[in-house]
Amino acid sequence: MDLLVTPSQFRDATVTVPGDKSISHRALMLGSIAEGRTEVSGFLHGQDCLATSAAMQALGVSVTQDGPTEVAIEGVGLHGLRPPSHDLDLGNSGTAMRLMAGLLAGQSFDSVLTGDASLSGRPMKRIITPLTAMGAVIESDCDGTPPLEIRGGMRLRGIHYDMPVASAQVKSAVLLAGLYADDRTSVSEPAVTRDHTERMLRTMGVAVSSSDAGISLEGGQPLCGGHIDVPGDLSSATFIILGTLLSQSADILIKKIGVNPTRTGALSILQAMGADIRLENPRLFGDEPVADIRVRASQLRGGPVDSGLVSLAIDEFPALFVAAAAATGKTTFTGLAELRVKESDRIAAMADGLRRLGIEVDESPDGAIVHGGQFSGGEVESYDDHRVAMALAMAGTVAADTVLIRDVANVDTSFPGFCDCVTGIGADVELV
Ligand code: S3P
Repeated sequence: MDLLVTPSQFRDATVTVPGDKSISHRALMLGSIAEGRTEVSGFLHGQDCLATSAAMQALGVSVTQDGPTEVAIEGVGLHGLRPPSHDLDLGNSGTAMRLMAGLLAGQSFDSVLTGDASLSGRPMKRIITPLTAMGAVIESDCDGTPPLEIRGGMRLRGIHYDMPVASAQVKSAVLLAGLYADDRTSVSEPAVTRDHTERMLRTMGVAVSSSDAGISLEGGQPLCGGHIDVPGDLSSATFIILGTLLSQSADILIKKIGVNPTRTGALSILQAMGADIRLENPRLFGDEPVADIRVRASQLRGGPVDSGLVSLAIDEFPALFVAAAAATGKTTFTGLAELRVKESDRIAAMADGLRRLGIEVDESPDGAIVHGGQFSGGEVESYDDHRVAMALAMAGTVAADTVLIRDVANVDTSFPGFCDCVTGIGADVELV
């Protein structure tokens, strides 16, 4: 399935976007091992989270859909998961595979985790190394990629893990395994990463401490089910923000978006480029900060991007590359090595897409210099990556001619309804 974008502009509007992917995954996993029922509203019914839901059901948990964004999970407690009768297929989702590996490392039964072609090429040694140090036994392909075979019945011990890469998935895998370990498990990170796992564990009654020395918890603590309200996903909202900034004059309010400070790096980067973005009506959903985001069309200017913000903006670089291409002058991105092992090599994928649209990009191993210009029309590849597809679609709204984005089915992993959402506010996009 391809996406044809005809030049068109966003108009003034109020919109919502689907629920946060990271929080929806965690609600399913933590709700499953909690005591009692967890009711989730605002849940993201995207392919990635549905893969996690199917995996939890295969582990004996009742997960029911009570409405388009409502899910109820009957928690089975820390030790209530059951052996699955088949391999757990986690589709395209790195979050699902890495967090599930942490959760399953301390179970009494064996399990096997598989994924699609993209996930099957992604690095898993980053979780195998610390989980093995805790006493887990996990086999992967010889190059450290999935499938993962996780041996059950292993006794886990708490460790301190000094993470070599800033990764919320690694941190979360170790903390989830830590729930099943003797003693205390702690993790320190080279840069702050999203802390949804820590926040949700606390909401569910687990004592998790965070300090300069790291994030730590004592094994064996029970989780308590309850209600989880999932905010709109800032990573999805970023594409609406981008389309608005690029437009002639749109003024758009995006309602009910998660603005956890470990996720808002892209807003800071865009504001430093001159973007008119404001947070209105700040409030809390449980332990998660939420706001409405007001964004207005803005002339962006290039410059060096603060590499200290990379881990707080990790999923937003496809959109930020498009913003840089529409800015005046050149924008220099550094510290982006992790982008090469996401759903696609996002530095290469975006450099290719932008070049095909007439933008000059100088690629480096851990970043790029994007020279501002005018998007031509053309045909671009999504590299089967949802965020690459959506970022290039926003470029298409202000291109000189139509832009065809190839293979966009993966948009459903994170932003089901993307086409209807952007069409509703003035973009001319069509699945072909
Ligand atoms: C995620 C963490 C990030 C992010 C991913 C979601 C999470 O990955 O890119 O989309 O939910 O924990 P890394 O931990 O690999 O940086």
